[in-house]
Amino acid sequence: MVQAWYLDASSADPRRPNRAEPARPVGLEQLRRLGILYWKLDPDRHESDPELEKIRKERHYSWMDIVTLSREKLPDYEEKLEMFYTEHLHGDEEIRYVLDGSGYFDVRDAEDRWIRIAVAKGDMITLPAGIYHRFTLDEQVGRGDRLGRAGRGPAAALTGCASPRTT
Ligand SMILES: [Fe+2]
Repeated sequence: MVQAWYLDASSADPRRPNRAEPARPVGLEQLRRLGILYWKLDPDRHESDPELEKIRKERHYSWMDIVTLSREKLPDYEEKLEMFYTEHLHGDEEIRYVLDGSGYFDVRDAEDRWIRIAVAKGDMITLPAGIYHRFTLDEQVGRGDRLGRAGRGPAAALTGCASPRTT
């Protein structure tokens, strides 16, 4: 089960859990009401997983690629991670499947409060179009974090759609 909670106000080091005190956990049902969907899959068979195929077919995810979030594999690593953690939104769903490693998606609830969603190997998550969000690796960085990305239409549709929030 995916773990999610409200963030504390300080959040000095984004790679720490930064749970609000007292703890305010967020359940799957609350995430679903925000339009966030979640599946637990077997990442070791992602190349031939009928469950993944079924989701892709039902939700019309026509393409998929894999990005490895490491200094060695990702050009402009620091800049990219900074970009991922800058609050933004997209005109289409954001679809991510953690093939290895772990990290956090932060999303704003209806009252603009941050909810942190911890994702790890095997977690597949979709954020709806128009939800403000950001992503960071967690303190386990360096274990070989690999993210599957998917989408509808041409892959290029996902790039260049960052829209930093100004308020
Ligand atoms: Fe995004």
